[in-house]
Amino acid sequence: MSPLRIGSLELGSPVVLAPMAGITNVAFRTLCRELELERAGSTSGLYVCEMVTARALVERHPVTMHMTTFGPTETPRSLQLYTVDPEITYAAAKMIVDENLADHIDMNFGCPVPKVTRKGGGSALPYKRRLFGQIVAAAVKATEGTDIPVTVKMRIGIDAEHHTHLDAGRIAAAEGAAAVALHGRTASQRYSGTADWSEIARLKEHVTDIPVLGNGDIFAAEDAAKMMAETGCDGVVVGRGCLGRPWLFAELSAALNGNEIPVPPTLGEVTAIMLRHGRLLADHHGEDRGMREMRKHIAWYMRGFPAGSELRNGMARVSSLAELEGFLSQLDPTVPFPKDAEGPRGRQGSPGTVALPDGWLDDPEDTLVPAGADIMHSGG
Ligand SMILES: Cc1cc2nc3c(=O)[nH]c(=O)nc-3n(C[C@H](O)[C@H](O)[C@H](O)COP(=O)(O)O)c2cc1C
Repeated sequence: MSPLRIGSLELGSPVVLAPMAGITNVAFRTLCRELELERAGSTSGLYVCEMVTARALVERHPVTMHMTTFGPTETPRSLQLYTVDPEITYAAAKMIVDENLADHIDMNFGCPVPKVTRKGGGSALPYKRRLFGQIVAAAVKATEGTDIPVTVKMRIGIDAEHHTHLDAGRIAAAEGAAAVALHGRTASQRYSGTADWSEIARLKEHVTDIPVLGNGDIFAAEDAAKMMAETGCDGVVVGRGCLGRPWLFAELSAALNGNEIPVPPTLGEVTAIMLRHGRLLADHHGEDRGMREMRKHIAWYMRGFPAGSELRNGMARVSSLAELEGFLSQLDPTVPFPKDAEGPRGRQGSPGTVALPDGWLDDPEDTLVPAGADIMHSGG
């Protein structure tokens, strides 16, 4: 498998941790990177931070600034911006450059959350071809003369009648983006059904001058090789598959580099990973908030493993590291990784009509910045 080049960044394996709001903070990325090193011998992928809103960054919102925390040895530092406005995009990217906040800027044009699309943000935005192009161009301009590549992450389009990915891919490349990533669903599909990898193949045929990354439904190491073979994409972006399985990147890089896939961890090894995750979250957020964040991860980690309902309920309400340690010590460390823990986790949901601003579909060339769309939100 050849390495993946994204602008100045050369990745030893063509694997990207998908930005996930509320998940891919410094704690989770550190854990994934440590496990890739420990189990596959190197840290070679790209681990993207949870998204931050460009406006909130420019306004130095303390919560947003905290979200841009990177590990002391983290490289490359990859930051995702949610943005709807060329001017704010330029200011945010310039701030990243001037203050040396990151080594890579990704942009989120895939969010399907109704409160975002209703205002014209996220996955609704690429429909406005010229505005989309102006936003990409603004970020590229702000990073000119630096080694910081700008990339775009998007969906197939708004719905089956309004595909935007081919135009957006072509426009992003023309405006200087260093790669595009496609989640093989429309906004109206949200996270339901299966990702349509054939649209990743179409985008790859359409955009020939920059790498095209495929995203959607990679839940095991074999899925990544399959997506690359089926679509011809240059790399893969992995989201929900690593929830409760941060060692997945070791498996992915081993599989894609033709090495033996490491044996999945036993329950004893998983409890050590959970404890490390808990400590990293406590370092980042403080113990109280860290443990509240840890609760959802515990449910994902424990999937398919035996544990009595009392223990599960206790862990779902964990409030201190000492308590977490106490719960984890009650689990049988010899239990092997369960077969039925494979498959989708995290968001699924059902399809629905995409909420859009009035008249949004009337004029794809309109460059009016959608009002009120740069709100804080979560999702992609
Ligand atoms: C909890 C959660 C949060 C997400 N947050 C973001 C985000 O901040 N930015 C983004 O571009 N995509 C976000 N996404 C979308 C993922 O990056 C990814 O595109 C999607 O989950 C499909 O990939 P998967 O099938 O590997 O999960 C999020 C997804 C989930 C499940």
